Amino acid sequence: MGEEGVKVKFTRIKTQIFASMRKIICPFDRLIDKIPEHGYHLDLGCGYGIFCSFLSEKKPNIDITGIELDEKKIAIAHENYANKHIHFFTGDATAIKATKEYDSITCIDLLHHIPSNYHEDVLRGVYSSLKDDGIVIIKDMDKQPFLKYLWNYIHDIVMTRSVHMYYISKQELVRLVEKSGFVLVEAQDIPNVLYAHYYIICKKDQHGHSKEEPS
Ligand SMILES: C[S@@+](CC[C@H](N)C(=O)[O-])C[C@H]1O[C@@H](n2cnc3c(N)ncnc32)[C@H](O)[C@@H]1O
Repeated sequence: MGEEGVKVKFTRIKTQIFASMRKIICPFDRLIDKIPEHGYHLDLGCGYGIFCSFLSEKKPNIDITGIELDEKKIAIAHENYANKHIHFFTGDATAIKATKEYDSITCIDLLHHIPSNYHEDVLRGVYSSLKDDGIVIIKDMDKQPFLKYLWNYIHDIVMTRSVHMYYISKQELVRLVEKSGFVLVEAQDIPNVLYAHYYIICKKDQHGHSKEEPS
């Protein structure tokens, strides 16, 4: 095997280890339970496509699109998981152009990697990409209790080699989604010894917000 072959094999093994760890750390199955069995799903900030692949295993009748800013991650996601039901594209979650409407959208541990003043832009893109009866599930990390927050911050520094994180608490996110034209369906903490996981589920507020035309 040549040097290039060794590199490819190493990257594959590394990704497999990362995927196994990610499934242990992030309660994907709690989120998958909330996603409809059929239709179109968009995963914003899909990383290496681990959630997309796991969702497809559990709910094979969904057509899944993953969008991610980092081209290298998308290349790996594509190589490992793309098939006729799972599609990956490079894109910026703060500037989503609605090309079709989805039954469900997830943003999993995405917002705290995006500067706070762009969070509303993400929600605007989600709003315009969601069917009128669709749901959005936003999973993120809370700022309390402090030790869990600190642990997650250290985790994020190690993973991203950056100190710039923009955590939004569950209460702050609920206020922001309501301001952005959604109604809250559910807001839950997900018990974990180390991490302050939470998720919220929202629908479009059919009365309070007029849909913006995609630009
Ligand atoms: C903690 S990772 C989560 C990945 C994936 N959702 C998961 O749960 O495995 C956050 C991801 O968001 C991506 N990201 C950050 N800013 C983004 C943006 N503006 N648009 C799309 N993806 C972004 C990062 O590159 C990273 O892959």
